[in-house]
Amino acid sequence: MKRIKAIYPGSFDPPTNGHLDLIERGSKIFDELVVAILRNPEKDPLFSVDARRNMLEAMTAGFDNVSIDTFHGLTVDYAIRVGATAVLRGIRAISDYEYELQMALMNRKLQPGLETVFMMPAEMYSYLSSRLVREIAQLGGNIDGLVPELVARKVREKMEPAHKFEAAAQNERAKKTRKKKS
Ligand code: PNS
Repeated sequence: MKRIKAIYPGSFDPPTNGHLDLIERGSKIFDELVVAILRNPEKDPLFSVDARRNMLEAMTAGFDNVSIDTFHGLTVDYAIRVGATAVLRGIRAISDYEYELQMALMNRKLQPGLETVFMMPAEMYSYLSSRLVREIAQLGGNIDGLVPELVARKVREKMEPAHKFEAAAQNERAKKTRKKKS
């Protein structure tokens, strides 16, 4: 019987509940699913590749056909190297479609034997992205429910020093203003 191995490539910085939702859906239709974190030296990520790998491993420990890996270079080359025949990507809204279509068609041009499979995450995650999670956390907002608890904890640990610094700076500014007034 033919077994279908797929890769789910992405940045996962940080991995969100939307990613987890897609991994769960993918694990049901593929025999094997490799979540592949891009090692991109040009990006300045919030989490190191190792940290993202650890988080994804913990998040997917319950799926016996899901594994986590990292790659650099072209997604299509990585897919062929690991013997995958499909690339899983999530589409949340129409706004994702243009970029995803372009990428899927370019990947098909580069490697015609590789199929891109799009899946939709649950509607409740249709507005969710790693970029927004980073932004909300950086500005002191609540990210509970957007990412798994273990990820939320790691994000908070990262942000805490910055928030403490900002709170101290605010106190200092308030003190100076009070002094001027008195
Ligand atoms: O989570 P992201 O950032 O939307 O994932 C984008 C990713 C990693 C899938 C894409 O940038 C990618 O495939 N990069 C690897 C380099 C590559 O193959 N580029 C050509 C794409 S047509």
